Amino acid sequence: MPVTYRRDGAIGVITIDNPPVNATGQAVRAGLMLAARDFAADDAAEAAVMICAGRTWVAGADITEFGKPPREPFLPDVITAIESLDKPVVAAIHGTALGGGLELAMGCHARIGAPGARMGLPEVTLGLLPGAGGTQRLPRLIGLMPALEAITSARQIPAAEALDLGLIDALATGDLTADAMALARSLAGQAPRRTRDLPAPGDQPDAVAALRAAVARRLPGRIGEGTAIDVVTDSLAVPFDQGMAMERAAFLALMDSPQRAALIHAFFAERAVGNLPAIKGVAPRDLERIGVIGGGTMGAGIATACLLAGQQVTLIERDDAAAARARDTIAGMLEGAVKRGKLKPEARDSALSDRLTTGTDYAGLAQADLIIEAVFESMEVKEQVFAQLDRVAKPGAVLATNTSYLDVNRIADATGRPGDVIGLHFFSPAHVMRLLEVVVADRTDPQVVATGFALAKRLKKIAVRAGVCDGFIGNRILSHYRAAVDAMVLDGAAPQQIDRALADFGFAMGPYAVSDLAGLDIGAMTRQRKAADRHPRDRVPVFADRLYEQGDLGRKTGRGFYVYGEGKPQPNPDLPALLDRVRADLGLTPRAFDDEEIVARTMAAMVNEAARVVEDGTAARPLDVDVVMLNGYGFPRWRGGPMHWADAHGLDRILSDIRRFAETDDHYWQPAPLLERLVAEGRRFADLNKESQS
Ligand code: 3HC
Ligand code: NAI
Repeated sequence: MPVTYRRDGAIGVITIDNPPVNATGQAVRAGLMLAARDFAADDAAEAAVMICAGRTWVAGADITEFGKPPREPFLPDVITAIESLDKPVVAAIHGTALGGGLELAMGCHARIGAPGARMGLPEVTLGLLPGAGGTQRLPRLIGLMPALEAITSARQIPAAEALDLGLIDALATGDLTADAMALARSLAGQAPRRTRDLPAPGDQPDAVAALRAAVARRLPGRIGEGTAIDVVTDSLAVPFDQGMAMERAAFLALMDSPQRAALIHAFFAERAVGNLPAIKGVAPRDLERIGVIGGGTMGAGIATACLLAGQQVTLIERDDAAAARARDTIAGMLEGAVKRGKLKPEARDSALSDRLTTGTDYAGLAQADLIIEAVFESMEVKEQVFAQLDRVAKPGAVLATNTSYLDVNRIADATGRPGDVIGLHFFSPAHVMRLLEVVVADRTDPQVVATGFALAKRLKKIAVRAGVCDGFIGNRILSHYRAAVDAMVLDGAAPQQIDRALADFGFAMGPYAVSDLAGLDIGAMTRQRKAADRHPRDRVPVFADRLYEQGDLGRKTGRGFYVYGEGKPQPNPDLPALLDRVRADLGLTPRAFDDEEIVARTMAAMVNEAARVVEDGTAARPLDVDVVMLNGYGFPRWRGGPMHWADAHGLDRILSDIRRFAETDDHYWQPAPLLERLVAEGRRFADLNKESQS
């Protein structure tokens, strides 16, 4: 029984026990109805406490039920039944009260929180809005603007702040159950205080308009947030029940939207990536003492991430000056964390003085549990580093490389312990970006793989397993669709038009703005590295090489595809002439591209290479590709990732696009066999995800 009712003296106790997170699935909703009835009928009970077993209060509606036919009783009705009781019910909250969980608590007549409890309405992150009275009860409890801020930010409000806001009535000082029982006893005999009977706050049109604009800027393309603002503000002047009906109608409409399906796919995909048979039940190795080699962009960021996670870090550089620079960079990043309120000043000081050692002697790595190499992207340098590591690292230490493209098997060969070697591919800035590709080489020990996943968890990152190949999952797919957009520029599209079309599609940034940010030298180096393997029919972005050769490296030189100065970056005014010259040299006649074709070509290229990545096992499943592209490459979350998007768009349409594009370039546009097979069989990428789970 997921919900039970018993009595303790004059107080009824309703307990919800539905692991893992006490979600309000159908059995919980039905159980709550029965418990409310039992409490109402129990004349000896003068008040009740509602409490949850396990690690948390109710963390929301059961997301696994979404998209299936709804089953009675519905959560809003359950909450109304509880709120309508004529004896008070106290919600005793620990862990996280989220979504339908917080809505349930707001339908109770008083709320007490454990000091560590957090509460919020995260429905918008799933493409929904609070659908069990949250849009009506939260503004009545805490006021209009705090409620709208909470709903649109989806943030988890700590218990102490919730008390200040009036969201809860008390903080537990001792045992939560005992304190909740005491609160219930103090309310016994009183009329229950129903949130629905509180007056709705007045409208604040200017503040609401400002919030609406800020949300649209922060989350372009998303519909849940704006709809939630509409429902809350449109219902301020109407009776509670009418407001509930407006909320229900909007909730059901969002439930049917492709955004809801995409965002929930992203939610479950991010939880499924760690579910790999090869490491099931495998214990990770220790992770307390971390070594980092190289203190440049990545090494300093990785060291900062580890310090923020409370680990001991030893960073090795080439000389004292570089080691001192690395320490300064790390101090600057920690200072940023202090400014953003993520780190206390004392914690920064102790991280720098007690937990960070910088130096030049590899012997300092002798005690490290895991060592991450982040030196230059050169096989020769990496081989030297790993040979040295093999001499100094303790037995069982994990030896990791942060290489972006290089062969991890070859790097492992530089040691006498290839089982301990793995790729841990962080993304820049490494202390901010959530993605970590765990690159598993041929001989990597499963324990070492499990340690890579454990490190991600410790750093609050999302780890995705990748196989060895040039660029692993993300950079390999990126290289491929970069080639497609570069080809469009050669054929006549303007880089700014491509950036705008893809930003309109939902990408955080267009590819040319990204190039400017990363530095045009990075792309030029990669092209130089791959030049020897180039096919004569590969199309080289000569225009990017020209910018590089003339020293226009992007943001760092103030000039690249855009010009950077005061205000918004402007398109580089010299670029059109440069492009004309390049096209003329290559004998190309430019043609116009519309936005639709730009998106179609980019997405077809991305999905086609992603299909190859899945087929050859570089990614375990299509969902792994989605998680990589969502968390490392700015793919719009509300489209669910390229594979989810492809399923929704239609694999047959993508395949026919590829065949059409091949009519003019059959070297680049070759359909991936997996894509052809799925279309022939009438299946989708989602079917492969499902098969992998069964
Ligand atoms: N429904 C169903 N399953 C859920 C769930 C939910 N609401 N929330 C979490 N789970 C599952 C996860 O899928 C995971 O399952 P797995 O172990 O099989 O992979 C398990 O519970 C544990 O979840 P996490 O790995 O995420 O555990 P954490 O401890 O890291 O986080 C959490 C716990 C903070 C509760 C986090 O899971 C979370 O944020 N959950 C979603 C909360 C949410 O969005 N609630 C709103 C739902 S919409 C709603 O309520 C509509 C209403 O307004 C009508
Ligand atoms: P960087 O040039 O900023 O830093 C490299 C650092 O390594 C320099 O400070 C250098 O002094 C040091 N170094 C070189 N040889 C060394 C040695 N033998 N011992 C100790 N230190 C040594 O380079 P960046 O950008 O940090 O890249 C490092 C690695 O991370 C590369 O393999 C790169 O491909 C990879 N990477 C880079 C990303 C990025 O966005 N910059 C993203 C993900 C991976």
